[in-house]
Amino acid sequence: MLFATLASCLSFIACAPTQVLAGPALARPSSSTLKPLAKHTSSSIASTSSPIALETPVVAIQATSETSDDVSYWLADITHQGIAAFNSNPSTYKVFRNVKDYGAKGDGVTDDTAAINLAISDGGRYGPASRETSTTTPAIVYFPEGTYLISTSIIDYYFTQLIGNPNSIPVIKATAGFTGLGLIDGDQYQSDGGQGWGSTNVFFRQIRNLKLDLTNIPATSGATGIHWPTGQASSIQNVEIELSSASGTQHQGIFIENGSGGFLTDVTITGGLYGANIGNQQFTMRNLVISDAVTCISQIWDWGWTYQGLKLSNCTTALAVNNGGAGDQLVGSVTVLDSTIQDCSTFVATAWASSTFSNGSLILENIVLEDVTVAVKGTSGTILAGGSTTISAWGQGHKYTPDGPTNFQGTFTAPTRPSALLASGSSNYYTKSKPQYETSPIASFVSIRTAGATGDGSTDDTSAIQSALTSAASSGHIVYFDAGTYKVTDTLYFPPGSRIVGEAYPVIMASGSVFSTISKPIPVVQVGKSGESGSIEWSDMIISTEGSTPGAVLIEWNLAADAGSGMWDVHTRIGGFTGSEQQVAQCPTSAAVSTACEVAYMSMHITSTASDVYLENVWLWTADHDLDSAENTQISVYSGRGLLVEGKNIWLYGTAVEHHQLYQYQFSGANNVVAGFIQTETPYYQPSPNAANGPYPTNSTLNDPDYSTCLSGNCDALGLRVLDSEDIVVYGAGLYSFFNDYSTTCSTFPTPENCQSEIFSVEGTTSNLVVYTLSTVGVTNMIVKDGTSLAVVSDNLATYAATIAYFTL
Ligand SMILES: *[C@@H]1O[C@H](CO)[C@@H](O)[C@H](O)[C@H]1NC(C)=O
Ligand SMILES: *[C@@H]1O[C@H](CO)[C@@H](O)[C@H](O)[C@H]1NC(C)=O
Ligand SMILES: *[C@@H]1O[C@H](CO)[C@@H](O)[C@H](O)[C@H]1NC(C)=O
Ligand SMILES: *[C@@H]1O[C@H](CO)[C@@H](O)[C@H](O)[C@H]1NC(C)=O
Repeated sequence: MLFATLASCLSFIACAPTQVLAGPALARPSSSTLKPLAKHTSSSIASTSSPIALETPVVAIQATSETSDDVSYWLADITHQGIAAFNSNPSTYKVFRNVKDYGAKGDGVTDDTAAINLAISDGGRYGPASRETSTTTPAIVYFPEGTYLISTSIIDYYFTQLIGNPNSIPVIKATAGFTGLGLIDGDQYQSDGGQGWGSTNVFFRQIRNLKLDLTNIPATSGATGIHWPTGQASSIQNVEIELSSASGTQHQGIFIENGSGGFLTDVTITGGLYGANIGNQQFTMRNLVISDAVTCISQIWDWGWTYQGLKLSNCTTALAVNNGGAGDQLVGSVTVLDSTIQDCSTFVATAWASSTFSNGSLILENIVLEDVTVAVKGTSGTILAGGSTTISAWGQGHKYTPDGPTNFQGTFTAPTRPSALLASGSSNYYTKSKPQYETSPIASFVSIRTAGATGDGSTDDTSAIQSALTSAASSGHIVYFDAGTYKVTDTLYFPPGSRIVGEAYPVIMASGSVFSTISKPIPVVQVGKSGESGSIEWSDMIISTEGSTPGAVLIEWNLAADAGSGMWDVHTRIGGFTGSEQQVAQCPTSAAVSTACEVAYMSMHITSTASDVYLENVWLWTADHDLDSAENTQISVYSGRGLLVEGKNIWLYGTAVEHHQLYQYQFSGANNVVAGFIQTETPYYQPSPNAANGPYPTNSTLNDPDYSTCLSGNCDALGLRVLDSEDIVVYGAGLYSFFNDYSTTCSTFPTPENCQSEIFSVEGTTSNLVVYTLSTVGVTNMIVKDGTSLAVVSDNLATYAATIAYFTL
């Protein structure tokens, strides 16, 4: 994420009075209103509609006997005994809320808006503008099957999961007179004209298994399905949006004006002017299906974006990346792979031209066209002809192969994909969405609280959890972690065969002397032991630490896994939350480094015995600020290493690693890795101390970088280091360094860009490495190989970030 208290008045746009965004902002933003202002102020979108009511009408909670589904789903039927351990009222605070318990009827006739909004807000939760972030009021808001009529927006709150019954998808249907920015408004604009939350800080939220129906709303009124400016650890999964496809339609399915996201998968949108009208620093979108829209995807702006498995059909333009026009392109880069475009006049509309700037960088790999007139259309006509054909690999922008920059536009040879990474019988990469166990009966689940763990944040739950995990794996049960904070004082071992799913991101919090030695790494969660094989599915959870824990390796994955094993929406959150004792009080930025604020040896280690590891939407985050401070106050907590990959056959879809001392991602002796989008941030305290001088000494067994060959300038933590590894393809990377000792003067575009000298290092015997659409911020040398710079920032200026479209050794 990017901490956003920095000057928001870097240009006249942010300082000008902003109108409240009440109605949909549908007019294609002009370049003058959408210029990126800074890394976190990207767009200014004005609308002339009148403000919508900010108050949620209150309805009395009505008892109802209609809360259950006809088609059952275990998540609704299981006993709800999750708690918010650090809430001020843990005994009364409700994590799980069924909208029908709050009076929603779901009968397609009653206006359910107020009831749904009450289900979200109930219990003293923080709404938009009431607080920047918070961890003490998690909630699942559950929709049984039914049709829920709404007349104004469902106002989404922070740390909320809106979940429908996947076995009978509930429909949220707008009335004809609907008003509001989005049937679901993920970041409601306030009367002061600003978003409720800084969009780069909206974490820990999901929308799943819903259908949004906008067809009652007249086609010519602007209308939006989901307004979703959001940050990391957010996801939309299994959602259908139906828009008007009548001629002249002004509807849009998903509207994202900015943020630092994010992940989306399995979304189907029909109709509209724009299926998706979206801008953000970076995002990963998978299996996005859009048909019958004028423009399927309108890319407002970005630094980088990875689309995998797009299916765009029956449109005028499938993907418009030309916003701003030739001289002022607002789209930094886009990578599209494994996609199908059908019956569209144009696949990609671009404004790229060969220049010293690299805005508009584009990579297309393995794209099937069926009846597409023009594949790539530039400002003066066809660049790549369409037809019914397959684009094996095509790109434009700056390339380094390995030297550069060379402006290129055209086909090139795609890297050979390791067969171990492919879906069976296909040339596409393997993918798998988060399991929701929708066909499993309730008898398949064992609740961790029923099994004796408390989740109260203070009791030592280690042995209760371990015995539940061991017996569930042998009996084939799925372990349900009720919401809560589970304190553990020793390693939890996930045996092969484990299936583990959390309720509203329960927290496993490591604490105590076992984890207290900086020279003795101990796993908190150990996924299989070295030499073991089998399958694991793990989703919706957070791993954290409490107090001084410099020996904690939050996740250690040793398992040689069966196909389909992985982690979905599992995050590390190290420091910066109530209960961690690693907050403003203990670890203010003004304090000298102390053991009290040394909080993790490593976020995640995929060891050399591990194979077939699938990570999707995983954010490994050392806190840069205190999520429970009223003003998002920055803190200095110190963790050693981010994600170390030593294994083989690894999928990293939509992952991010932030603020670790020695590196964020390190691939060392790794084999067969597909990754995209990957995103990193350097610790804000660096270079005082810098990567080599921080509290965590290097460990040669782990091949830590020692920074002895660092180029001149600040030797801050590497974002990505690839050492002695083979067959690595990165489909989109954003490696950012915004700060030097909490000051951003080193990252003010276009110059200076010198928060650190280098951030991406390729070393040793590494071979078959390809990195597409690499963006950096605040970095002087964008690519360094064995101590020699291959690419400097001044040759690759783009948007706020500098971008290289294509790098290979
Ligand atoms: C996001 O866009 C809104 C609307 O223009 C603006 O008020 C806000 O400052 C932007 N936030 C960031 C983090 O760029
Ligand atoms: C194509 O989309 C238009 C709306 O843009 C719709 O009216 C038409 O029915 C669609 N055609 C097909 C074959 O789906
Ligand atoms: C690239 O983006 C920068 C920053 O917005 C802008 O100043 C520049 O004109 C753009 N260049 C091109 C070629 O679009
Ligand atoms: C170095 O890493 C190895 C492998 O994880 C570990 O066994 C050893 O304890 C570590 N040593 C130190 C001093 O951190």
